[in-house]
Amino acid sequence: MIESVMGESILGRAIDAGHIGLKVYNIRDYTLDKHGRVDDYPYGGGAGMVMEAEPVWRCFEAVCADAGHRVRVIHLSPQGRVFDHKMAAEYAEADELAFLCGHYEGIDERVLEEIGTEDVSIGDYVLTGGELPAMVIMDAVARRISGVLHNENSAAEDSFENGLLEYPQYTRPEEFMGRKVPEILLSGHHANVEKWRHEKSLERTRERRPDLL
Ligand code: ADE
Repeated sequence: MIESVMGESILGRAIDAGHIGLKVYNIRDYTLDKHGRVDDYPYGGGAGMVMEAEPVWRCFEAVCADAGHRVRVIHLSPQGRVFDHKMAAEYAEADELAFLCGHYEGIDERVLEEIGTEDVSIGDYVLTGGELPAMVIMDAVARRISGVLHNENSAAEDSFENGLLEYPQYTRPEEFMGRKVPEILLSGHHANVEKWRHEKSLERTRERRPDLL
């Protein structure tokens, strides 16, 4: 799942070009169980299955052995700290990160403590596994790494970069279904364009995300 999604489009090209690297580990390869089982019933009862500590630990050891040192592990969990723009910027400074993706009802708490994971959520809803959240984070982090986006400035002008949502964008044609591109964007007057964009950013943020102001 991860290799196929990450192998496409901008991130796929960034990997091919060596701007970022990706190595995927399948926890199932680290179980001693002959049927490849990595989950079991929860102590105390309840619905669902829990991922066992042992294969997760063995996989972690393999990741650390490959890296040549103990790696920083982000565990994807709806109980984690909610991921945001600032965390993306901080992660982009790291040389490498490992993402631990749980399934079922979660992972045995003891191995999370032993690894010392940082638990991170992508929002207040529950998904079937940590893979999609991990890829959301990888995407948000990768696009901040030099060479990944063609225009080095495009990340700098994104929403949230200055604490505001981004202004609206337009391209040709000048008129679409009777709707015209705002006159000022055709004026060629750089300072006025900047001023207009800043005003639109503020307006949009006020309307849609007043919590950011
Ligand atoms: N795993 C399941 N739901 C998740 C979420 N919202 N964020 C991160 N990991 C998850």
